[in-house]
Amino acid sequence: MADDQDRAIRAGIGTLAVAVAIITTFDDGRPHGCTGMAWAEHPAPPLLLTTLRAGGRTRELVQATSQFGVSVLGEGQQAHVAGFAARSAEPGGRFAGVPFSPGPTFGLPLLDGCVASFECELKDIYPFGGHDIVVGRVTWASVAGGRRPLVHHDGRLWGLREPGQ
Ligand SMILES: Cc1cc2nc3c(=O)[nH]c(=O)nc-3n(C[C@H](O)[C@H](O)[C@H](O)COP(=O)(O)O)c2cc1C
Repeated sequence: MADDQDRAIRAGIGTLAVAVAIITTFDDGRPHGCTGMAWAEHPAPPLLLTTLRAGGRTRELVQATSQFGVSVLGEGQQAHVAGFAARSAEPGGRFAGVPFSPGPTFGLPLLDGCVASFECELKDIYPFGGHDIVVGRVTWASVAGGRRPLVHHDGRLWGLREPGQ
């Protein structure tokens, strides 16, 4: 492919802004999670999808447990983005010092103070390049009204503002 097309494809993909979330699960009984992103579709049944790296630990654990949690980060929670993307040698390592609560349907670890939280039952997994599309049926949700999500766009994190502000 021509270099200019390669650049245009990368830049075009970078314009797709997505809410940043921590995708959570259990690793040997300890909370585990990684930084990811989420999209959703609300008509019944409500579905949520995330893409997890094929061969990644979270992807493996989500399939093994058939459940996953999603904690949508708000502005001011940027520190979790790097913390949950970092290598963690031990089960539970990424959650050290991070306040979280168990979700009511599966007891999945959900980070405190997030814009929204979901528990999902795994529905399908589809291959998607180097990642897999992981689809869940939402079994429980909670939302903190009036807060704005942290957004990933063009390789960086952003806060949301209304146009013209
Ligand atoms: C802003 C940001 C977004 C990310 N989005 C994803 C994602 O959508 N899917 C994914 O698998 N990893 C994503 N990552 C990378 C993972 O968090 C990282 O590779 C992590 O170490 C994977 O952990 P695991 O092997 O325990 O699953 C993202 C990282 C950052 C900083």
